[in-house]
Amino acid sequence: MTYADFHRRSISDRDAFWREEAELVDWHEPFGQVLDYSRPPFAKWFVGGRTNLCHNAVDRHLKDRADQAALVWISTEVDQARTYTYREMHAEVTRVAAMMQALGVKRGDRVIVYMPMVPEACFAMLACARIGAVHSVVFGGFAASSLAARIDDARPALMLTSDGGSRMGKAVLYKALVDESLKLARHPPKNVLIFNRGFDRNFNTVPGRDIDWKTFEKDHAATQVPCEWLESSEPSYILYTSGTTGKPKGVQRDVGGYAVALASSMKRIFCGNPGETMFTTSDIGWVVGHSYIIYAPLIAGMTTIMYEGVPIRPDAGVWWKIVQDYKVSVMFSAPTAIRVLKKQDPAWLSKYDLSSLRHLFLAGEPLDEPTHAWISEALKKPVIDHYWQTETGWPILSAVPGVEKTPIRFGSPSFPVYGYDMRLLREADAADAAAGEKAVVAIVPPLPPGCMTTVWGDDERFVRTYFSTFSKKQVYSTFDWGIRDKDGYWFILGRTDDVINVAGHRLGTREIEEAVNMHANVAECAVVGVADPIKGQMPLAFAVLKDPSKGTSAGDIMETVDKQLGAIGRPKAVYFVTLLPKTRSGKTLRRSIAALAEGRDPGDLTTIEDPGALQQIKDCLGVK
Ligand code: PRX
Repeated sequence: MTYADFHRRSISDRDAFWREEAELVDWHEPFGQVLDYSRPPFAKWFVGGRTNLCHNAVDRHLKDRADQAALVWISTEVDQARTYTYREMHAEVTRVAAMMQALGVKRGDRVIVYMPMVPEACFAMLACARIGAVHSVVFGGFAASSLAARIDDARPALMLTSDGGSRMGKAVLYKALVDESLKLARHPPKNVLIFNRGFDRNFNTVPGRDIDWKTFEKDHAATQVPCEWLESSEPSYILYTSGTTGKPKGVQRDVGGYAVALASSMKRIFCGNPGETMFTTSDIGWVVGHSYIIYAPLIAGMTTIMYEGVPIRPDAGVWWKIVQDYKVSVMFSAPTAIRVLKKQDPAWLSKYDLSSLRHLFLAGEPLDEPTHAWISEALKKPVIDHYWQTETGWPILSAVPGVEKTPIRFGSPSFPVYGYDMRLLREADAADAAAGEKAVVAIVPPLPPGCMTTVWGDDERFVRTYFSTFSKKQVYSTFDWGIRDKDGYWFILGRTDDVINVAGHRLGTREIEEAVNMHANVAECAVVGVADPIKGQMPLAFAVLKDPSKGTSAGDIMETVDKQLGAIGRPKAVYFVTLLPKTRSGKTLRRSIAALAEGRDPGDLTTIEDPGALQQIKDCLGVK
């Protein structure tokens, strides 16, 4: 069958298609209806079916592969490595689940996981899945007030953390940030379970609230905790992501649809087989970590590698050595990492035996053509650019080599993935764009299995945010620009909204602006993303000070962002102006500022209130 036929069937014969794919996972009770779409755009997949993500990721493999490695943890930060078989993983996960239950966590309760890349974080996620608790993993790079905002939105019953982690050999003190966030939060959890790694010998302990993981787990070593059989549409997790507003959205995902989509993608797209090894270089705090470090490889009965460290320490060969030593078949990384490696000695790429590697998958940000060509040539393996979002949980555009080995075109994430009914729509009137015409990438609902089911606690926001871009058609907007060539290859051209992508990390410029505004001497500011040769984009800030005589420096502003949002949002530069370019109706002209910063034409400026504001931006940037 050609891929085009395969895709066509997934849309035209949707129910039969997904009924077959659903056989890739275990169901405790079979589902009846494949899809309930009686309340568009809300889709319920595999109605009435009962299953459990932890059962599919762990328990069901005990029969055939109990002694196979499930998780290999490698840390180049603390120079340690540990392997857990499926049997050991089962015991570890059960123990964490027992601790959670002892702390009163019940099905449907939320649990915040704010942890570094350690095996215990993986056990914690799976333990939540086991008992039907909803995990909300917060990336360790987020600062106390971002964490507090996520706590207040999710209202967790429990929080799991660690005393600290390490990045580039420098300690990051998680527990101290947790303490600060709990002071800010209006809905703090009753307990905090702390996995002590010995990074912070003096961390503060609040009696009655804070519990030491290793001491507490001794009481639960032998407790058996069965899997809760959840209805397919019950929530499995929340993952916050940035959008146009300053308030991150809790992307909510289901159980059954997600399990099926991941199992299917592992077979058809990633070509990972049971017993093989997958190495995904992301972090558990991002969607790539959720789907392709934790759930998908384990559901597929593979060995997954969890890596704590950076790509160039102790040297730029470290990832390729892992591929060799653990016979990695499927590798998944981000374009920024490849651009970092491109600046190192190319000899690192031929030093190790990479014969086990079948494909390298890259996603998270645009993969530029030269980098795509360079890494393909250097590895002599197919490098597959694929495009998706936190919202979808698995690829939207990709080559699907498990169905057909279509030729790779550099700079393109190939074609719509099966299950996705994709359109390129003109912004003005929602009409279909012609070949070669830049337009908004949209998905005709229902969204396929695995995609977000709603915004946590806010169905209305789900509809308003994602399905209201066009008044004429209720379609899901990705907020990305795209283009399709005459051969049907798609290209992604960046966001239509105020979201930027820094080293594959998605950030809202509004979120960064809110952080800048927290500095006591800032009256207002504008943050824009500008092209960066390594990180893809970097934020630039333009701030108006209340009292310029106070001597506020760019460094002061950066420090405020570090504290409010986290260092991942820190602007590359901060410029001070006395006025921001705005339209007469008061909208900041971010697109024009970004264009100037990238040396492009700022576009239509007829609506600007005071052209002097733009001159100030030009003066800061040194452009004419
Ligand atoms: O703008 C697109 C960009 O990253 C956004 C989604 O980021 P996030 O929610 O963090 O999910 C990442 C999952 C891989 C998209 O809206 N993006 C992601 N992949 C690509 C991409 N842009 C271009 N090419 C890609 N392959």
